Amino acid sequence: MNLKTEWLSAARTEDIQRAADLLKNGGLVGLPTETVYGLAANALDGGVVKKIFLAKGRPQDNPLIVHVASVEQVAPLVQVFPAGAQALAKAYWPGPLTIILPKADCIPLETSAGLPTVAVRFPAHPAAQAVIRACGLPLAAPSGNLSGRPSPTTAQHMWHDMQGRIDAVLDGGPCEVGVESTVVTLAGERPRLLRPGGITLEQLQAVLGPVDVDEAVLNRLPEGETAASPGMKYKHYAPNARVIIIKGTSGQYAAYVNSHAAPGVAALCYKEEEPMLQVPCISYGGQGDDRALAHELFRALRAFDDDTGVKLVYARCPEPTGLGMAVYNRLIRAAGFEVLQL
Ligand code: TXA
Ligand code: MG
Repeated sequence: MNLKTEWLSAARTEDIQRAADLLKNGGLVGLPTETVYGLAANALDGGVVKKIFLAKGRPQDNPLIVHVASVEQVAPLVQVFPAGAQALAKAYWPGPLTIILPKADCIPLETSAGLPTVAVRFPAHPAAQAVIRACGLPLAAPSGNLSGRPSPTTAQHMWHDMQGRIDAVLDGGPCEVGVESTVVTLAGERPRLLRPGGITLEQLQAVLGPVDVDEAVLNRLPEGETAASPGMKYKHYAPNARVIIIKGTSGQYAAYVNSHAAPGVAALCYKEEEPMLQVPCISYGGQGDDRALAHELFRALRAFDDDTGVKLVYARCPEPTGLGMAVYNRLIRAAGFEVLQL
């Protein structure tokens, strides 16, 4: 793969049009959304969608989210648009929520990775909406990272991973939420949360009533078990360094890390812990400030990966409630479920 990737700016109308034209012609474009950058292509063309998997190095059995720019655009993509889904759309779209429904025939098996369902999302980012409207197509877009890397939360991250592999990156500034959308399936008997994100479990329950939480959201899937959301079965993001989550007070954490200080040891800490630590550290927000933690998590993990000297990261992680559940879900995987309670 050696494409000449164009750098486009969402602030320029002609660049939005350029992105839309590339997409209409079967191209791949990095698009900003409010969650993370996505790698977009025409969701209705299986041949084009195949190129997404190649560019990312993504396993073929991991289905893609289809992005729309209005609620009306959903009906032709699904067999049914049940009342629960419409209520969710009304409450949280446009926004960081993906809803899984039985798919219509126009969704190619490449997009759904062979499943009878399709994931749909109406993103809030104005540039994503403008491009979808300008090309008039539903866009399949996984996160725009190389498979196995943290999702990109800036156009520069996306460029770093995808330059030469796709047609363009549209710069729309840093993503507001910073972790990928909440994924909920309404294709089964009861609503089930498959991936926590910017819309919290509590927010889903407020609209739907009881919502099951898939086993894989907070736990390691037992060997050989099939994941309801295929993305959950992959070791989602494996950093170069070993990551261990440390639970306890800030004082206990600092004492532990400082007594284990050595070359290659680093810390992913809360902001107020920085001055207490005697190892290289990256803070990603204040304790309890789950919005900041979500916003900064992937940037911080990328920074550790870029420093090849870092071999072991002692990390702080919020409790799995509210938006903290999304941060916990990503970080516990990055840590291979290694947790030390002090
Ligand atoms: O915020 C986001 O959702 C970003 C932006 C670009 O919109 N996209 C994103 O896509 O995170 P991706 O491909 O990295 O994650 C999609 C997740 C995967 O875990 C996938 O397995 C799951 O959604 N998924 C997609 N379609 C599904 C389906 N039909 N059934 C079950 N899970 C599905
Ligand atoms: Mg992804």
